[in-house]
Amino acid sequence: MENLLQQLELYKKEITAETANTPEAVEAFRIKYLGTKGLLKAVMGEMKNVPNERKKEFGQLLNEFKQFVELRYETLKSQHSTTADNNNEKIDWSLPGDNFTVGTRHPLSMVRNQIVSIFQRLGFAIAEGPEIEDDWHNFGAMNLPEDHPARDMQDTFYINQNPSWLLRTHTSSVQARAMEKQKPPIRVICPGRVYRNETISARAHCFFHQIEGLYIDENVSFADLKQTLYFFVQEFFGKDTKVRFRPSYFPFTEPSAEMDISCLICGGDGCTVCKHTGWVEILGSGMVHPKVLENFGIDSNKYTGFAFGMGVERICQLKYRVNDLRLYSQNDVRFLKQFTSVV
Ligand code: PHE
Repeated sequence: MENLLQQLELYKKEITAETANTPEAVEAFRIKYLGTKGLLKAVMGEMKNVPNERKKEFGQLLNEFKQFVELRYETLKSQHSTTADNNNEKIDWSLPGDNFTVGTRHPLSMVRNQIVSIFQRLGFAIAEGPEIEDDWHNFGAMNLPEDHPARDMQDTFYINQNPSWLLRTHTSSVQARAMEKQKPPIRVICPGRVYRNETISARAHCFFHQIEGLYIDENVSFADLKQTLYFFVQEFFGKDTKVRFRPSYFPFTEPSAEMDISCLICGGDGCTVCKHTGWVEILGSGMVHPKVLENFGIDSNKYTGFAFGMGVERICQLKYRVNDLRLYSQNDVRFLKQFTSVV
């Protein structure tokens, strides 16, 4: 046994003297001492010859020896295994890192998120629905029967397979689905893409984005509608923005009103954007028509509601002064990277 002790000391000296200057030499060291047929394995094998009463003592010694060899190996490896060290290059950790470009949100998404979050704070829940709609949810239920002239304002694309399927012309179809599913009180905000059969130009596109809102409960009045939309305008466009309502017509609301805001560009003095009126139109609204409520079995003597709808492109255009609608869908990075997103 004393032999083994001496042998271990000799091995330690030998191992300490080992140098390995290349990754290959480090690997050769590993094979020689730690490999499956290496020295450590052989030394450990000696345990079976150790008499029982000394097993504890030798177990400890061999363990220490094992740790000694492994540590020597790790030290050699860390000195010689990276290419940078091979070339004797020192890495300068203080150098600035490589830049990488982070994408930004699309301006329409940013504006949509901002608008939606204002209404969410007022207790509106987000509702979504299909872009391929049936005639009923898009038109019929909204008090636009088949022969109604108001359908002309919203001509769309039909699906060959089924003539009663179409691409929705407004997200009022989502409101229809909300009224179908829920009982009042209903308070939803419906963002989404809509389609119209329009010739594409700077001022019109065959698809765009809307946000519509619907609130139905007992005693909902036009005053609620005005205050809600006024709050939205103040939050979104700033405290100095004024609003005005003009009587209008939509088949699904009665009375109906369009809402204008004071022109952001000239502050109301008159410019080309507001066509020298000082006002720009931003949305349509009104009290939900009793017939629409009845279409969904909602008692119009007990419940009233208001609805509104706005175009996201339009709001975005006012906020960022974008004068050509086509820019939104051309995916030109020079356009898109001008908008840095926070939401
Ligand atoms: N659905 C209308 C449109 O697309 C907007 C609107 C919604 C008007 C709700 C009044 C009430 O033009």
